[in-house]
Amino acid sequence: MELRVLLLLLLCCPGLPARTPDAEMSQREGSTFSIECPYTAQPDNKQLKAWCRVRNERCELVVLTLASTEYRYSDRARQGHITIQDDNRTVSITMSDLQAEDSGIYSCVYSSNYVPLKTISLNVYKELHKWELDSLSVQCPYKALGYSWGRKAWCRQQGQAECSLVVSTGYSYTWGSSRVWNKTSSIQDDAYRGIITITMDKLQAQDSGVYWCALYNPSQHLAFTRIMEVRLSVDKNLPAQTPEAEMSQREGSTFSIECPYTAQPDNKQLKAWCRVRNERCELVAWILASMQYIYSDRARQSHITIQDDNRTVSITMSDLQAEDSGIYSCMYSSNYVPLKTISLNVYKELHKWELDSLSVQCPYKALGYSWGRKAWCRQQGQAECSLVVSTGYSYTWGSSRVWNKTSSIQDDAYRGIITITMDKLQAQDSGVYWCALYNPSQHLAFTRIMEVRLSVDKIPAATTLSVTTGSSQKNSSGNSTQPRNTIIISVVLCILLILALAITTTLGIRQRKKLKTKGNREAEDTYDKPEDTYDKPESPAQLESAERMRRTTDDSRDVNYITLDFKSQLSSDEPLYCNVELSQTPRKPIDENVEYAIITSKQLPRNDKG
Ligand SMILES: *[C@@H]1O[C@H](CO)[C@@H](O)[C@H](O)[C@H]1NC(C)=O
Ligand SMILES: *[C@@H]1O[C@H](CO)[C@@H](O)[C@H](O)[C@H]1NC(C)=O
Ligand SMILES: *[C@@H]1O[C@H](CO)[C@@H](O)[C@H](O)[C@H]1NC(C)=O
Ligand SMILES: *[C@@H]1O[C@H](CO)[C@@H](O)[C@H](O)[C@H]1NC(C)=O
Ligand SMILES: *[C@@H]1O[C@H](CO)[C@@H](O)[C@H](O)[C@H]1NC(C)=O
Repeated sequence: MELRVLLLLLLCCPGLPARTPDAEMSQREGSTFSIECPYTAQPDNKQLKAWCRVRNERCELVVLTLASTEYRYSDRARQGHITIQDDNRTVSITMSDLQAEDSGIYSCVYSSNYVPLKTISLNVYKELHKWELDSLSVQCPYKALGYSWGRKAWCRQQGQAECSLVVSTGYSYTWGSSRVWNKTSSIQDDAYRGIITITMDKLQAQDSGVYWCALYNPSQHLAFTRIMEVRLSVDKNLPAQTPEAEMSQREGSTFSIECPYTAQPDNKQLKAWCRVRNERCELVAWILASMQYIYSDRARQSHITIQDDNRTVSITMSDLQAEDSGIYSCMYSSNYVPLKTISLNVYKELHKWELDSLSVQCPYKALGYSWGRKAWCRQQGQAECSLVVSTGYSYTWGSSRVWNKTSSIQDDAYRGIITITMDKLQAQDSGVYWCALYNPSQHLAFTRIMEVRLSVDKIPAATTLSVTTGSSQKNSSGNSTQPRNTIIISVVLCILLILALAITTTLGIRQRKKLKTKGNREAEDTYDKPEDTYDKPESPAQLESAERMRRTTDDSRDVNYITLDFKSQLSSDEPLYCNVELSQTPRKPIDENVEYAIITSKQLPRNDKG
């Protein structure tokens, strides 16, 4: 039965009613795309689920799952780039290492009737980064997409779905048609191999934008049918910019900036967020006609977003890392008119205790620095820094560690990382430090790579000890304002405590000895039980515990408790426990740093002594 179904599927491509995709998914070439299609399962769940490519209203099977077995139908699936999974409630499809040829309409279908669960349009775009005056050459293969004859064009996207012509092939339908030029752009259609080749020479910053290789039919309302999308960014040399402001942000924090602009009626200009390096704009993200285009890895991880409300561009950078430090600019239009330029300083914040050690790594490769002396200096005033330790002049790979008193520096020029250590930290080491480029012959000898804000706290003078005597536990909040006195008190009390313990133990031993000599007689007295219930004489251990129990209850009036609350100010790893009974700890400790120690100094029953 199942085999017959499969054979049937292999032989025919069932028709699908024309469906408009539920959503368009834009994915960069090389990325991974996943989709989940929930379904209402039947008890036995023996229906097939498949992932189809929809072309000419037919389902071209890509991959199919039936009774936990996966069947692959396309080359991409056979190479393991497309997988399907079924957990009896949801079919999940994953497409990895996406290629431009994967663009198209896809559908999750259920049962051999091919009931569509979800239909999407997948747009796999190419991303290209160029510098001004560079050339560009792009190939758009279209055979695999099912296109063939007809005029082809290269157009620039305007708004959401419109495109404006750059260059198009002519009407001639000859094999290997010749190259057509319009200004600096050209198009050539190799209809035999099914590949369009586009070139663009002498690129300018204003060429940045989104382009399509497209089918071109000027007589239709929508003249362009997209074959492939290309996102081009042309980075531009900028006139040197002095940042208007420096923004200091802690590592891990979120930074937002708003750049207002004077909108044109149609608001079709792009707005971009650039990182300014070596007087060039390196695009991080841009927004064009409400579409956000991202260019850096950090933006791809959704740590950088750009928004436009037709009057203001807003940029948000989250989970900031030291490597994000640098100069940034909001740009308007493809001429890159700067709206705002800022210097972003992402600093590390470190909290240490006195005598702790410190080890900090400053990665500088990603910031564009390389050779040269490096230093660790302590900031003085606004922009000055005083040397703590610096690397020497030798420019060898993996230079050795240099020490100055308790501080050291090591520059791993190969990995582009400086490692700083500081030993035996003191409270007066608290301050702002820089990992820096060091050029002692310049007026400003230090160029900050990374800022580190260090605070060294003194170890609290003493563990505060407050004593309460009484018959109940108290959640004393512990006075922490009289350290000197409490040292003395605590020392005295500790000695007393140890003495008390020693006495209790000695007496306890004596008591035990007495018990052993008294033997069975006392035990019988205590329990008043008929002799015939005991077949054997009790062991000394049993006796002892029985004796203890009795005494505790009998003498409850005479018991004195000393409750010692140790309020530790350290995040101490070694708590101080003195004869703690777990059952007596409070149910809900209010302060996690409080360690409770209950020493029960039992007054010995009088009758024992007598
Ligand atoms: C789906 O259901 C079948 C039978 O009902 C069971 O054998 C299989 O383990 C289930 N699979 C999952 C992933 O839950
Ligand atoms: C040439 O390119 C310009 C825009 O760059 C466009 O307006 C024009 O229509 C193009 N001409 C042809 C013949 O493709
Ligand atoms: C910006 O303007 C365009 C067209 O004028 C409009 O479609 C869009 O909704 C506006 N966006 C916002 C966020 O106001
Ligand atoms: C060593 O450190 C002190 C400050 O702690 C600084 O004044 C001195 O210049 C440093 N010496 C070297 C050789 O780096
Ligand atoms: C214990 O702590 C609670 C809440 O802080 C407080 O209301 C109460 O008075 C404290 N009890 C004693 C005995 O200090």
